[in-house]
Amino acid sequence: MSRIHYTKPSITELEVAYATDAARNGWGDKCYEYITRFEQAFKAHLGVKYAIATSSCTGALHMGLAALGVGPGDEVIMADTNWIATAAPIVYLGAKPVFVDILPDSWCINPELAEAAITPHTKAIIAVHLYGNLCDMDRSLAIGEKHGIPVIEDAAEAIGSQYLGKRAGSMGKFGTFSLHGTKTLTTGEGGMFVTNDADLYELVLTLSNHGRARGQAKQFWPDVVGFKYKMSNIQAAIGCAQMERIEELINRKREILRYYREHLESFPGLTMNPELVGTVNGAWMPTVVFDVETGITRESLQAAFAAENIDARVFFHP
Ligand SMILES: Cc1ncc(COP(=O)(O)O)c(C=O)c1O
Repeated sequence: MSRIHYTKPSITELEVAYATDAARNGWGDKCYEYITRFEQAFKAHLGVKYAIATSSCTGALHMGLAALGVGPGDEVIMADTNWIATAAPIVYLGAKPVFVDILPDSWCINPELAEAAITPHTKAIIAVHLYGNLCDMDRSLAIGEKHGIPVIEDAAEAIGSQYLGKRAGSMGKFGTFSLHGTKTLTTGEGGMFVTNDADLYELVLTLSNHGRARGQAKQFWPDVVGFKYKMSNIQAAIGCAQMERIEELINRKREILRYYREHLESFPGLTMNPELVGTVNGAWMPTVVFDVETGITRESLQAAFAAENIDARVFFHP
C-alpha cells in the first residue's frame, strides 16, 4: 500500500513549465521577472498594497520585527502553543517572547491574556493563525489600538483563511507567510512579507536588500546593516504557477478537511480544526484534539498510523 503523506505539494505541468523557463531564460536583466510577477499576484490575492518575497517566513518575520525596532530589552507577546519559528526571530533580535495561553475554541492566542501581559516593554503582539484557524482579530486589533502596540499576523499556515471577509495576513501591521514544501502554496522553501503601510514596506525593502535603500544612487552603498532573505527567480516561477491555481489548491485543502470532518466528527470526545462564525478556514492541516476520557494518546495514535503506513504529526507542543 502506498504511503498516505500528511502533506504533499500539488505540482502540475504549469509549475514545471514556469520553473524550466526561469532556469533557461530568467537571468541577467530578467532575473527578477518572476519575483515581481509573484509578488503582484500575491498582493492581488490578499488585497494588500505591498508584498516582498523572501526565502522563508522566519526571514520575513525577522525583517518585519527589525523594521519595527524590536531589540534588546523589548517584549513581544505571542501564543504559547506554536511552532518555534515565530519565537525565534524575537530572540534573534535580543528581545523576549512573552507567552500567553490559547483559546480552546480557536486554538489561537487569547486576546484578553495578551492584553494582561502588556508591559512598558511590549513592542508587538503576534497573532498566529495556527493550522489555518483564525485568531480573534477584531479583539486583538482593538487591544493593539488601545495600547498603541502593533499587531502582527503570522499567517505562515493560513493562506486561504478569511476573517469577516478579510484574508489572513492582510489585517495586521504586517503579515507573513510560509511557502515551505509542506504548505498549501509552495515554492519549496520561501516566504512572503505583506503590509499596507508604505513606510514599513520601504524599511523592509531596504533591509531585504542588504540595507541598500531604493533611492540610494551610489552603487554598493548600504545605509544600514540589512539581511539576505531573498527568494530566487526560479522559486518565484513555481510560485507564479501556484498563484494561478490558488483557488484550486485552497479548495482541495478544504475538501480534505471536510472529508475528515464528515467521517470523524460523529465520534464523541474529539474536536477538529474549528471554523468559527464569520471565518473561513484555509484548512492547511486537518488536526484532531482528543478528550482525555477517550484514552487516545499521541503515542498510541502515531503507532496505529505508522502500522497503516500513514503519516501523522503531533500538535505543536506548548
Ligand atoms: C506558525 C509558523 N510560523 C512561522 C513558520 C516559519 O516558516 P518557514 O519555515 O517558511 O520559515 C512556520 C513554519 O511552518 C509556522 O508554522
